[in-house]
Amino acid sequence: MIRIDNLTKIFETPNGPVTAADHINMEVPEGEICVLLGPSGCGKTTTLKMINRIIPSTSGKIFINGEDTTGMNTVELRRNIGYVIQQIGLFPNMTIEENIAIVPKLLGWDANRYKARAKELLELVALDPSIFLKRYPRELSGGQQQRIGVARALAADPPVMLMDEPFGAIDPINREVIQDEFLKMQQELRKTIMFVSHDIDEAVKMADRIAIFRGGRLVQYDTPDDLLAHPVDDFVESFVGDDRALKRLRLVQVSQVMEPVTTVSPGDSLKVALERIEQQGYSHAILMVNERNQPIGYVSRSVAQTTNGLCGEHYFGLKADTRPEDDLRKVASLMFNHDTTWLPCTDEHGVLVGQVTQRGITHYLGATYHRDAPVSLAQTLQQISA
Ligand SMILES: Nc1ncnc2c1ncn2[C@@H]1O[C@H](COP(=O)(O)OP(=O)(O)OP(=O)(O)O)[C@@H](O)[C@H]1O
Ligand SMILES: [Mg+2]
Repeated sequence: MIRIDNLTKIFETPNGPVTAADHINMEVPEGEICVLLGPSGCGKTTTLKMINRIIPSTSGKIFINGEDTTGMNTVELRRNIGYVIQQIGLFPNMTIEENIAIVPKLLGWDANRYKARAKELLELVALDPSIFLKRYPRELSGGQQQRIGVARALAADPPVMLMDEPFGAIDPINREVIQDEFLKMQQELRKTIMFVSHDIDEAVKMADRIAIFRGGRLVQYDTPDDLLAHPVDDFVESFVGDDRALKRLRLVQVSQVMEPVTTVSPGDSLKVALERIEQQGYSHAILMVNERNQPIGYVSRSVAQTTNGLCGEHYFGLKADTRPEDDLRKVASLMFNHDTTWLPCTDEHGVLVGQVTQRGITHYLGATYHRDAPVSLAQTLQQISA
């Protein structure tokens, strides 16, 4: 756990004092990722560097696992804090293995142990040890160097990690990949992490909580969903972006908005299908399932109204389906691609467990937007296509 209490930094400069951090109060619970987010110069790096005392604070206190760090010696403090610096900062004259082993060597690990650890960490950040251990930083791409930066910070397995834009030099596609890898890693490692970013999408994806900074002040500290649903002021609102409804979709799973669904079987008559469509108030169609309750298609209202016969003779194939753990961003995208307002949801055996509808999604988002008009999925879909 990291607790920051009235932390302040005033730099004295030839042009007068600069307040880089202004009475910051916040707490990062154990095992969580807190993302510090804000425009350039708002004090993110300064706040981070006060925690491992690379920058001495002007006033205020920092507690790690309940212990006031003021009295701790610097070496002891930094041993427990992994640090990924903004400019990567690998030592150019050392191999990757030596770079990763810096802290373990300081801690007196023997060669076998730190070499094994370097190998293990390269695998963790998805770089082949047989290729990279003996290379020098200049022989790596920017993104690969950043991975080494992360591996180096993890070397001595510190409980607390400070990461300053750790994926900033990685192209968008590989960035998503390394973010996913990192989150998977974090599920096991459960480090307490302060992570600096100026990318709202990265923050929403990575954070348990987001801290928005502006001009040295902490202006909002909330879960990603609360931040997107209730920005405290115009600055935060414009910072999170006017597509914030769309960003929220990524945070909600199908299971949270899933509804029960009424179906027909291939042996049911189209008359039955029409009755059920009307009873349920379905606008266009009804889902058809096989004897194992697996969706196989749908019967449209217009066909049921104008045709006689059995559902199994007059159905359309399924366009797509979803899983309970899918996020709504994926669902919205599927709905948009297939021009549909609902999708069935199935378990890992393809068995129907419910449906997700545009109306259900809009209702869910609207119910948590106390202050705003509900955002319609249609608006959101327009943003996807824009
Ligand atoms: N050593 C220093 N001396 C004087 N002013 C400094 C010093 N370091 C930082 N500052 C100022 O403090 C403010 C906060 O800087 P900081 O590096 O914390 O910003 P940041 O939020 O990390 O920005 P970025 O996103 O660009 O990395 C800025 O106005 C910066 O100019
Ligand atoms: Mg910075």
